[in-house]
This record gives sequence, C-alpha cells and structure tokens, in this order.
Amino acid sequence: MRILLLTHAFNSLTQRLGAELQQRGHEVSIEFDIADSVAEEAVMLFRPELIVAPYLRRAIPESIWSRHVCLIVHPGIVGDRGPSALDWAIQDSETEWGVTVLQAECEMDAGPVWASATFPMRSAKKSSLYRNEVTQAATSAVLQAVQRFESGSFQPTTLASLPEVRGRLRPLMKQDDRHLDWTRDHTETIVRKVHAADGFPGVADSLFGEPCHLFDVWPEATLRGTPGAVIARRETALLRATVDGAVWIGHVKRPGSIKLPASLAFAAQAQAVPLVPLSGWWRVDMPTWQDIAYAEAGAVGFLHFEFYNGAMSTAQCQRLREALVWAKQRPMRVLVLMGGADFWSNGIHLNVIEAASLGDGSAADESWANINAMNDLALELINSPDQLTVAALGGNTGAGGCFLARAADEVWAREAVILNPHYKNMGNLYGSEYWTYLLPRRVGLEAAQAIMRDRQPLTAQRALQIGFTDACLSGELESFRAEVATRAAALAAAPELADKLTAKREMRACDEATKPLSAYREEELTHMRRNFYGFDPSYHLARHHFVRKSLVSWTPRHLARHRDLGWITP
Ligand code: COA
Repeated sequence: MRILLLTHAFNSLTQRLGAELQQRGHEVSIEFDIADSVAEEAVMLFRPELIVAPYLRRAIPESIWSRHVCLIVHPGIVGDRGPSALDWAIQDSETEWGVTVLQAECEMDAGPVWASATFPMRSAKKSSLYRNEVTQAATSAVLQAVQRFESGSFQPTTLASLPEVRGRLRPLMKQDDRHLDWTRDHTETIVRKVHAADGFPGVADSLFGEPCHLFDVWPEATLRGTPGAVIARRETALLRATVDGAVWIGHVKRPGSIKLPASLAFAAQAQAVPLVPLSGWWRVDMPTWQDIAYAEAGAVGFLHFEFYNGAMSTAQCQRLREALVWAKQRPMRVLVLMGGADFWSNGIHLNVIEAASLGDGSAADESWANINAMNDLALELINSPDQLTVAALGGNTGAGGCFLARAADEVWAREAVILNPHYKNMGNLYGSEYWTYLLPRRVGLEAAQAIMRDRQPLTAQRALQIGFTDACLSGELESFRAEVATRAAALAAAPELADKLTAKREMRACDEATKPLSAYREEELTHMRRNFYGFDPSYHLARHHFVRKSLVSWTPRHLARHRDLGWITP
C-alpha cells in the first residue's frame, strides 16, 4: 500500500514505523505537519491509500480525515484522551499503560479504535518510556491496524460501544501540577514528577535562586543535607537535598537558553559547591549519579556510559577514553561497550557546542575540540590488540555514535533500535570518527556512499542484512543485556579466541601499512575544518535550529518522496 506518514517530526517512533512498514513492502512517504495546506498538498501528490500519524501536535484537517482513513497513534490506553497522556500516567503511578491506534474524526482522540497494545509501567523518564515501551507497543499496534485496514473487512470499535474503559479525557498537564516542594516532597515524588516532564517541558523550579526547568534526575542513596540546598556536584550534575535524601540534577534549561548539563548552565555558582567525585570507574551498587561505570563477569569487562540523550561533549569523550584505557589494562579477554539505556551514542554534543557560542567562546573551536576528542576515543577502541571488543547497542545510535560503535570488533544491536549512520542532516556535515575507514570495509564502497547519501534510518535487522552490524538480538533491554553477557562469556571462553586476536592484530597491521589511520583522520578533518570554519555556515545554522527545536518549514526531499521531481503516482 501507499502509506503517508504525517508527523510533527521525524522522531525515533516515526523512523521505526517508516522502516517497519517499508520492510513489509509498503511504499512510505513522509510529510511534516506544517500547515493544513501543506498536508493537503502531500495527500494530493502521493494519493495514499492510508495515512498514519505517529506523532502529531494538532488535529488533522477535516478536508483530509473526511476523505481518507487517518490512523492516529495515541500514547495512552483505550479511552485515554488529551495531550499529556504519558505525563499523567507517570505522575499517577499507573502500573500498566498502553498505546491506542484510532481513526481521526472531528473530536480529538475520540475516533474508533483500530488496535491497541499495553505494557507494564517502569519507573523511568517519560522520554525513556516513549523510546522503549511506547515505541514497541505503537509499532505492534500500527502494524496490526495496517493489516486490518488492508483486509478490507475489519470494523474498528467505537468508544461508545465498549462496555467499560479505564482511560478518560485528561487536560494538558500544567506547571502547577508538576510543582516541587523541596521542604516537603520525598525523593521518590520529586524523581517521579521530573520523570513525567522529561525531555519536554521539564519542571519549572529554581537553582541558586535563579529560575530554570529541571530534567534528568537520579536518586542518591547516601549523601544528605538541608532540604532544598544544593549540597554537592559531580562532573556535570548537581546534588540537591530533599526531606529524606537527595536528588542529582543532570540537566537544566535556564530562561532564554537551551537545555544544558546542570554544572555548565550554572558554571559560576557550581564552583562554590563541594565536589564529591567517585573513586575510579567501578560500578557503584547503590543509587547515585554515575555516568561511566565498569563491571566484570568472568573474563568479560562491561563499560557503561550513560550520557543524557547520547550526546558526548569533549570532556565526556576524554573521560570515557581514560576509562577505556584503564579497562583495556584489566585482565579481560572481551570488553563490551554498553552505552546507555536509551542511547548508545549520538556523537558530538551539539548543545554544549552551541553553549560555547552563547558566551565568549567559539562554537567552531568547541566543535573542533569535540570531534578530535571523539576521534581519540574511536582510535583507542580501534587499537585494542589484546581484547575482542563489542559494542552492544541497547538503545538508538546516530551519526558519529554509529561509527564509534563500528570501531569495535563486533556490533550487536537490540532488535528494537534504530541506527542513523550518517551525518549530512546536520548541515551537510562530512563526519569523522574514522568512518571513511570503518564503513566501506564493512559494507563496501558503493553501499557506504548510498548510506551517507540517502540518510535513511536503519532498523537493527536491516543494519545486520547490509553488514553494518554483526548480530541482531531480540528482547527488552534487560533480556538484551543478559544475552549480551552470555554471548560475550561464550566469546571469551571460545578456544579460537587467541586465533581471532592474532588475526585482528594482523589485519590492523596490514590496514595500517596500506593506509595509516592518521591519513583517514587528516582527510576527514580537512572536510570538518571547512564545515566548522569555512564560508558555508550550514552546519552552524542546522545545529542552532536543532538545539532550539525550531519549527521546520518544509519536509526534506529525502523523506518526502512524493515531492521528488520524478515522482509519478501509480
Ligand atoms: N547533541 C545534543 N543533543 C542531542 C544530540 C546530540 N548529538 N542528538 C540528540 N540529541 C537530543 C535531542 O535534541 C533531543 O533532545 P530533547 O531531550 O530536548 O528532546 C534528544 O536528544 C532526543 O533526540 P531526538 O532527535 O528526539 O531522538 P530520536 O531518537 O528521535 O532521533 C537522531 C535520533 C540521532 C536521529 C537525532 O537525535 C539526531 O539527528 N541527532 C543529531 C546527531 C548528530 O548530528 N550528531 C552530530 C554529528 S556526530
């Protein structure tokens, strides 16, 4: 079928649905919901048999839903309505939640139900629930709804005909509903309220007497202080005491600024706050804030790096490289790079780079420092002669993060993850992280060029098919991690490990003799220097709009296939 995805943005759910539908043979094109007239034009050009709206912020115009079946993905259980579905579910401590696929009609979220799916709730950020449980449930419900539509005989259920539904209409959640009282609220309440607002809109609060929105909070098990006081800092996070403990604040957004690591957003004030570093990289087995954590099981080392949104600043890359250097000296045979729960890595930290331009610094200089720190990290991983290295992708991975992963000997991805191994969307960025060495040797020159040119997201299955990854493992994050551990232990115990390591060293030496890594790096950086310092400001403009979430005014041609000049409706 020809299916039009009408969406506010090409977010991870839209990417996943588009890829899954294409894999099932459907012809998919995408249009951003910019204005009624633009959506109408897209429908006229593409003549879709079905319209799916994975992520909308406003209603579909009657001119479209009255003539075409439009399936809306609502992140709530059957009967739930309103724009803050997940926020309320988290704040109300629901134990089970779901996704409903319903047909657009004049009343928002009240049309007939084509499919639904439920999942057990987890104590996690809203953004994490959205990227995991909601995306999984939405994918299965949409695929079921599409099949039902295709059958031609399915009658969707009207809400009125259902005997009893738990869901109900709920209003937009306001900041008053999210209010934190540091002199009364328990740690659990504060964490839950901020989770319900992550990554948008955050909770309006204040730090050091200055207003800001809070994101990315973590409970602390041992440190204590006067409720409401900022009592400690560690790397990028600040610790604030509650009545029964304390909460780490990872990210904040100050008025008129962008979302930033808390210690950077309040750099001057943070100086006066006592530092409480962790000693070394070993994983701490009690709740606290630890962005880099190392653990071992048998002959396998596991390096976790939980960087918010998968973004890796210069300092984070440098610290992760230090941790990697240290981990490589442990007597382990296999080293697994686990990344974080929601993202493995999304490459250089565009918000921290943008922040450099807000002060006295230079975004170009910070971009340059960041890409060099990423490259140093990738180089450290490529040059690991004594261990077999594995990148275990439990969460989505984009841009330079994909090539950092590819710097490992093996890449294992969880079936639900989406990979975006390309850079051009960020203002025609050329990219580095040794991709010109790492990508063609895996997929061939032609496929490498196509990946970079087409800029399409890859499902984990597709990434395996084209040889970008080495395994696609099913399951939720916990079972994925358990399977990664089992497979890594088997690799470490395999009698052929020594031969594999010898072959790896020989291959590296041979590759280095043919063309040294320094030459790949220099070539890539020649392009990047132009991107950062050259006369064409595209990268700086694209980054500016990306971090500020500027509203888009058109759909990129590589997504809106119906806008291709050669497009002919069958
Ligand atoms: N730097 C800073 N923030 C980043 C980031 C980066 N490299 N990549 C993603 N983010 C942030 C987004 O701004 C968003 O922030 P929010 O918490 O305010 O919503 C959050 O991470 C999630 O990103 P989103 O785009 O909603 O996630 P997604 O899973 O739908 O899409 C990508 C994933 C990778 C396609 C998309 O995030 C992207 O294009 N990122 C930029 C990658 C890049 O160009 N890196 C630089 C070159 S190496």
